[in-house]
Amino acid sequence: MMQIHNLSDENSILNTFISEIRDVDIQKDSMRFRRNIERIGEILGYEMSKSLSFKTQNVTTPLAEIAVKTIDNDVVLCSILRAGVPLHNGLLNYFDKAENAFISAYRHHLENPETFEIIVEYLACPSLEGKTLILADPMIATGQSLLATFEALKPFGTPKEIHLAAVIGAQEGVDFVAENFPKNTHLWIATIDKELNSKGYIVPGLGDAGDLAFGEKLQH
Ligand code: URA
Repeated sequence: MMQIHNLSDENSILNTFISEIRDVDIQKDSMRFRRNIERIGEILGYEMSKSLSFKTQNVTTPLAEIAVKTIDNDVVLCSILRAGVPLHNGLLNYFDKAENAFISAYRHHLENPETFEIIVEYLACPSLEGKTLILADPMIATGQSLLATFEALKPFGTPKEIHLAAVIGAQEGVDFVAENFPKNTHLWIATIDKELNSKGYIVPGLGDAGDLAFGEKLQH
């Protein structure tokens, strides 16, 4: 079974950042919204780092030598454009040496506005063979974009392990991801909400994360 780490199970300053991105007044400040998502990415990165592999490294200080344990994983950080960008930045703030992958995935609404398909158009990715793949998607609504991304990444090699990083998930999206990702996948998520509305938005959620971070877009 996929391991789900819901970080708001425990009270921490993370809850303050989540409350600010949800708040209709505070979230209007797009710079603060992006920075809060980035800070959540940093917290997710810190928490997931505890489950990675470590190696012993000797460091010379001005006074002596000391053996320290540092991360031994080759990390590839992949995020979904465009809402994933601030979360990606937060993770990259901590995984300094990570390689990076970007993928575009968006909902193409069909005639019935309540149905959509996921379109993947752009994909830039290094080899994933034997690496630690961190897949960042701020909002796990249905989980379909994450799965479409995972499928699109398959030709790039088989990662040693997969960590999913998310801010808010709907319970049904998290369940869908748990059913469709390999069993040894870890999901690091700031919080999980109960519902999804008929348009596929998470309730209470926060609205459209991409629009809040980067401004409203024209529908095409
Ligand atoms: N994407 C968002 O930005 N918000 C949602 O509620 C669902 C998907």
